Amino acid sequence: MRRLIVSLGERSYPILIGKGLLSETIDLGAALPKVTHPKIAIVSNETVAPLYLDALQSSLALVGADVTLIVLPDGEQFKTWESINVIHDAMLSARCDRNTTVIALGGGVIGDLAGFAAATYQRGVAFVQIPTTLLSQVDSSVGGKTGINHARGKNMIGAFWQPKLVVADTTVLQSLSAREFSSGMAEVIKYGLIRDMPFFEWLERNLETLMARDAETLAYAIEQSCSNKAQVVAADEMETAKEGGRALLNLGHTFGHAIETGMGYGQWLHGEAVAAGTLMAAELSRRLGWIAETDVTRIRAIYQRASLPTIAPNLGASRYLELMSHDKKNLNGKLRLVLLRQLGEAVTFSEVNKSDLIATIEACCEN
Ligand code: NAD
Ligand code: GLY
Repeated sequence: MRRLIVSLGERSYPILIGKGLLSETIDLGAALPKVTHPKIAIVSNETVAPLYLDALQSSLALVGADVTLIVLPDGEQFKTWESINVIHDAMLSARCDRNTTVIALGGGVIGDLAGFAAATYQRGVAFVQIPTTLLSQVDSSVGGKTGINHARGKNMIGAFWQPKLVVADTTVLQSLSAREFSSGMAEVIKYGLIRDMPFFEWLERNLETLMARDAETLAYAIEQSCSNKAQVVAADEMETAKEGGRALLNLGHTFGHAIETGMGYGQWLHGEAVAAGTLMAAELSRRLGWIAETDVTRIRAIYQRASLPTIAPNLGASRYLELMSHDKKNLNGKLRLVLLRQLGEAVTFSEVNKSDLIATIEACCEN
């Protein structure tokens, strides 16, 4: 088992990565409130619960927990206030108190929902992440961003609420669809592009083994991804740095969120939108003279090998601009993008020229 720490002082927590962790006794000791009969609310969905709930419950039975199950419908379109109400209603009916721990068992949608429900239930209860998709194991379960979507934009409502523990069992990734696995690869590749060129080069060398879900290769990629994320989060937890900082984790996300919102939630998977969006950010970086055409080609090639889309949908430049104007990274009404100064080094950039932006959108969208 690999073990990393997200260093946030008293709120520091471990990330456990390994094969078969879910079928072992999960040591919730440090994560649970120090009471005799802790209450636990497990939030999962209709796809993941039949696959992994039994294993999780057997592991938890050993700590004598009183468990409430909340199984939501599956899909990004359910990352809403209605789902938060369902979780809170179930917790209130089960008389969950402030010593309750919410456990998210699922992908990023369940993690974001369960985390936000935990952050807001009786002003905040403990929370554990058991991510079951590649994307959630390498990104969304770490760092404490929780929330829901709004009709006007992705993840517009939410809270920073750090988990007490993250358990990433690589075995559960075997049941993930090829499309969802590829979606997670977009976030893995992101860490290489923004701050870790040796990892990007390792990915280029090992991509096929990784796509074949080889357990050791997967564990290494998840560890490197979480290690990069943990360092970024520890340095800028609330994304308040004026330049760089946690915002860099959003490479390709401003364009990507526009794709997700513009196409309708759930049509493009998050990682798919991030891949196409990252190529837009790369193209803009090339227009600024920061990276070369060969760099853009190199990024496109790794996405193609990971079966990710490399051409964005044609929403029209004005619709892209409208959607991007709502991005949370924007400051004082000014668009703030994450671009590539070079491969392996991302920067935040606010001096975007509108005509460059429109030319980029037109060059990267399907005709
Ligand atoms: P998801 O949660 O929708 O899961 C993808 C699909 O895989 C779902 O149908 C799910 O039921 C299914 N699934 C999950 N685990 C499975 C397994 N082991 N076997 C078979 N099927 C399984 O999507 P996701 O890609 O995990 O997460 C995307 C969400 O994460 C988006 O809402 C995005 O905004 C959010 N996100 C949040 C952060 C953050 O920092 N909080 C970061 C990145 C993404
Ligand atoms: N996924 C971006 C972040 O956690 O900040």
